Amino acid sequence: MTATTNTTYPIGKDVEIPAIGLGTWPLKGHVAEDAVRYALSQGYRLVDTASAYENEREVGRGLRSSGVPRSDVFVTTKLGNSHHGREETLRAFDRSLSELGLDHLDLYLIHWPVPALDLYVETWRTLAELQQEGRVRAIGVSNFKPAHLRRLVEETGVVPAVNQIELNPLTNRAAEREYHQENGILTQSWSPLGPGTGLLDSEVITGIARAHHRTPGQVILRWHLQLGLSATPKSASPERITQNLQVFDFTLSDSEVHAITALDTGETVPMDSDLPLGGMPRQNT
Ligand SMILES: NC(=O)c1ccc[n+]([C@@H]2O[C@H](COP(=O)([O-])OP(=O)(O)OC[C@H]3O[C@@H](n4cnc5c(N)ncnc54)[C@H](OP(=O)(O)O)[C@@H]3O)[C@@H](O)[C@H]2O)c1
Repeated sequence: MTATTNTTYPIGKDVEIPAIGLGTWPLKGHVAEDAVRYALSQGYRLVDTASAYENEREVGRGLRSSGVPRSDVFVTTKLGNSHHGREETLRAFDRSLSELGLDHLDLYLIHWPVPALDLYVETWRTLAELQQEGRVRAIGVSNFKPAHLRRLVEETGVVPAVNQIELNPLTNRAAEREYHQENGILTQSWSPLGPGTGLLDSEVITGIARAHHRTPGQVILRWHLQLGLSATPKSASPERITQNLQVFDFTLSDSEVHAITALDTGETVPMDSDLPLGGMPRQNT
């Protein structure tokens, strides 16, 4: 296996999602387009965007100008918080496809459940319709708690393929990971590097990085992989985009994985998806 061979996880019949993808929030304009094109040139095959990021058009341009065949790239986008409900969802889906310049998506996620609207079950049924029509290969959710997931499955019988949640070694969400695993839902980590938390500089991470001649970012991403998670690190720096994919040619020992897992603070994530308009105050992410 080469340094950039991306492993994949099965998330449905004939659907495989690459383990590492490029996150694109808050990239805008030509910076977003350049990052996508560069990432694809480095071997990335998963790109994560959302209508709320206001960069789908540039992401689409980056995909096309990369020269990588559409069928080789896995594209995820997300339904925005103000577009829940059947008619709004259908319109938002069409708009995202048109912005991206694509005729189908690989994965469509409900960005936040927004329980105050009480529409996420209807929205989920609509995503299932879109999947049945062949317009999206896999459907999932983001920032859903087990109670939200349980309700989706009880009322529709359709299990999300993916739940994308904030997850890093400081907040490793063991109970939610276990719930996902028991129910066949792939956990995908957003903010996988814990930006702004000091995680990248912590002694445990930097010590393990030195031992493997890797960067702290690579060690953290490797930890996600060894827990069976997918992750979508964002970078606008060519150097860091490249290094974030070079995580498939080394292995952390069990004790290193345990030491990183033990960094968990026990605190809940700052954005509570049960709050009105879930995800306040960073609801756009
Ligand atoms: N579903 C949701 O609600 C939700 C919410 C937030 C984010 N997301 C998705 O998840 C993606 C990632 O989340 P995020 O951007 O919050 O966090 P992140 O990817 O964990 O961290 C990004 C930050 O880390 C820096 N960085 C990247 N690689 C690095 C490395 N190897 N070493 C040191 N620093 C590094 C980046 O700066 P440089 O650009 O300078 O490298 C940036 O400041 C987003 O882009 C978005 O696609 C989803």
